[in-house]
Amino acid sequence: SESGCLSIIVLGASGDLAKKKTFPALYHLYRQGFLHPDEVHIFGYARTRISDDELRDRIRGYLGKEAEVVSKFLQLIKYVSGSYDTEDGFQLLDKEISQHEVSKNSAEGSSRRLFYLALPPSVYPTVCRMIRKCCMNKSDNGGWTRIVIEKPFGKDLESAENLSAHIGELFEEAQLFRIDHYLGKELVQNLLVLRFANRFFLPLWNRDNISNVQIVFRENFGTEGRGGYFDEYGIIRDIIQNHLLQILCLVAMEKPVSLKPEYIRDEKVKVLQSVLPIRDEDVVLGQYEGYRDDPTVPDQSNTPTFATVVLRIHNERWEGVPFILKAGKALHSSKAEIRVQFKDVPGDIFKCQKQGRNEFVIRLQPSEAMYMKLTVKQPGLEMSTVQSELDLSYMQRYQGVPIPEAYERLILDTIRGDQQHFVRRDELKAAWEIFTPLLHRIDNGEMKPKEYQPGSRGPVEADELLAKAGYVQTHGY
Ligand code: BG6
Repeated sequence: SESGCLSIIVLGASGDLAKKKTFPALYHLYRQGFLHPDEVHIFGYARTRISDDELRDRIRGYLGKEAEVVSKFLQLIKYVSGSYDTEDGFQLLDKEISQHEVSKNSAEGSSRRLFYLALPPSVYPTVCRMIRKCCMNKSDNGGWTRIVIEKPFGKDLESAENLSAHIGELFEEAQLFRIDHYLGKELVQNLLVLRFANRFFLPLWNRDNISNVQIVFRENFGTEGRGGYFDEYGIIRDIIQNHLLQILCLVAMEKPVSLKPEYIRDEKVKVLQSVLPIRDEDVVLGQYEGYRDDPTVPDQSNTPTFATVVLRIHNERWEGVPFILKAGKALHSSKAEIRVQFKDVPGDIFKCQKQGRNEFVIRLQPSEAMYMKLTVKQPGLEMSTVQSELDLSYMQRYQGVPIPEAYERLILDTIRGDQQHFVRRDELKAAWEIFTPLLHRIDNGEMKPKEYQPGSRGPVEADELLAKAGYVQTHGY
C-alpha cells in the first residue's frame, strides 16, 4: 500500500501554519527523496482566490536556498480555491485529485490521500464532513484517506469529546493523526530509548531515587500578532495540556510490551489516568505586563501567559514525586528542558554543603543536549568536592548530522501510517480530564494570574512553589 499515487492536500494553504510549517516540512521531505515526483502531487486549498503561481510565490521564501530544487518542488503544488462549508469547492478539489490519480497511476497502483488541516479549529467539523462526503479515496486496492489535525482539539473536556465524537463518526481512529509537534522533536523521541535501553536508568527511575521532575517551556517573546487566538486559550491549553503533558507521559510511563504504537499509547493513557486532581495550592498563574495592550486582547483579560502546575501521579512508581510543569511567554529566555532531580545521598560523608544534587537534564531546544550534574573531587591536592557535568551535546557529538524538524518527521509518519507519535482519542480525553476543572476556574475568574515583567523569570510565587515541591536550585544554573 506504500506505492502508487500520493496526494497531499493542505487545507488552509494560504495561512500561517501552512506557510511556516507544513509546506517547508513537505519541501524538506521532497529534497531528501521521500516524496517522489512520479507519485506525489500536493494540493493547496483555501478560500482566497489566487493562482497556482501566487500560492507558490507566497511560500517560496519559507522553503530554502537551493533555488532549483525549490522551483521543482513548487511545480508539484496546485492550488484550488473554495469555501470550507459548501460542497462545490470540495467537489472541484476531488476532481483535481482524481485527475492527477488517473494520470499518475498504473493499473495496479493504489491512491493515497492525505488531508492536512492547517485550519482554525472552528471549521474542523464541517471540513471533515465535506472530505468524507466529496473527497474520499475511491480505489480499493490498498489506497487510503488520512486526516491530519492540529491542536487545539477543543477547549475543555466537553468540547473535545464533542469534536472527537463528530470526527469519529466520519473516520476510523486509524485514519486520524492528531499532531502534537513536540512528539516529533529529536530529544522527545529519544526518551523511550534513553529510559528503556539503558541499564543506568532502569533501577533509578522511581520514587526511591527521584525527588522531583521539572518539564519547562519558556519563550522570550510575547503573543505578538497572535493575541486574539492566544487569549481564548491561554498558556495551559497552548503548551501545558498538550506539549508538556505528552513529555510527562514519556518520562513517567511504564515500559510498553513492545514498540507497537498501540502499546506505547496504552501506557501513556495509564499515566494520565493516574494523575490526581490538581489542587489550588499547586498552581501559580502569571500574565506579563503589557499583554492586554494588544488590541486583539480584551482589556479585562484573565488569561494566563505563564503557569506552573504541580502534578502528582498516584501509582507505585511515582507516589510522592512532584511533576512540575512550567510554561511561559515573554520570559528571560527561550528554552525547553526536562530536569530530573535526584534525592540527596543518604549519610553524606563529604559534607559537600549542598553543592547540588544529582540532576539529569534533557534539553530539547535550543541546542539539543543531555547532561548529568554530578559531584566530583575538585582536581588538585585538596580533598574537596565540586559540581560538574557529564555532557552530551548533540552539536559536538553529532556534528554535521542534521536534526529533522518535528513536522517533517511527523508528516512522514502519516504517509507511512505510523501512529506512535500521534495522540489517540482516549489520550486526549484523559489529558482534558486533568486540566478542565482548573481551566474552568480560571475562565470564571476564580483564579487570577499574577503580573510579571516581560523579560523576567515569571512571578516569584512560581519559584516558591518549586522550592515547596522539593526542587533544590544549584548555583550556576
Ligand atoms: C505551539 C504554540 O504549539 O508551540 C505556540 O501554539 C508556541 O504558542 C509553539 O510558540 C512552540 O513550538 P516550538 O517548536 O517553537 O517550541
